[in-house]
Amino acid sequence: MISNIDEIVKIIRDSNNIVFFGGAGVSTESGIPDFRSVDGLYNQEYKYPPETIISHSFFEKKVEEFYRFYKNKCLKPMLNAKPNVTHQALYKLEKEGKLKAIITQNIDDLHHRAGNKNIYELHGTSFKNHCIKCGKKYTIEDILKADGVPYCSCGGIIRPDIVLYEEQLDNNIINSSIKFISEADVLIVAGTTLVVQPAASLINYYNGNKLILINLSNVPNEDKINYVIHDKLSKVFEKLI
Ligand code: OAD
Repeated sequence: MISNIDEIVKIIRDSNNIVFFGGAGVSTESGIPDFRSVDGLYNQEYKYPPETIISHSFFEKKVEEFYRFYKNKCLKPMLNAKPNVTHQALYKLEKEGKLKAIITQNIDDLHHRAGNKNIYELHGTSFKNHCIKCGKKYTIEDILKADGVPYCSCGGIIRPDIVLYEEQLDNNIINSSIKFISEADVLIVAGTTLVVQPAASLINYYNGNKLILINLSNVPNEDKINYVIHDKLSKVFEKLI
């Protein structure tokens, strides 16, 4: 059902058990492109499709090409991005005890930087990295300042702590996400096309009748969603600041 913004704001204000499930659209207003919009990352020209580049087998076979794409297209826009009004409103809702968890597909760390504590990063984070040989930890700056592929002092390749295509999501993160979603009064699904599995299926664990979608474009099975807003996230969240 298409809803109006004031109705959604009221539902959010009235609830003390909100869970937020987000995707790349949460960070576009911080200047980080999403993946599947017309001007998103997946509609630009590369020698390989981005899903192929950001995969486990590609990382193993063509690590130079992986890092060329990953540094330029993923890391650089992230490095100086700041939390936007949506991240800030979610911080406020958590501080007030209303928001119980953020479950995000994003790897950009912006929810942490906004101050939220209970965050489940389904696809990991670009801000943590480790050597695949000795496990030594590295920062995002270490990755960016390396010329090409970043190597550890032990000689091993450093990789980001993100979940590449063909890799499994962390079971503890999945289980906690399911717990929060299944117990939520209000579930806000925002800025995601809901096409990447298994992340997208997690919202099926919601048991309530206040499932809210805030997304610029349509998503699959929208008729099963209780409240739908096709607008920018900032239009809703600026009213909650
Ligand atoms: P997508 O790029 O698929 O979807 C982003 C959605 O956000 C689109 O439907 C846009 O219309 C919407 N959007 C963009 N800006 C918005 C705004 N300001 N307000 C409201 N909506 C907005 O991104 P995800 O669904 O997050 O995986 O993609 C899922 C996964 O695909 C990512 O985590 C990544 C990618 O491959 C990995 O890297 C493993």
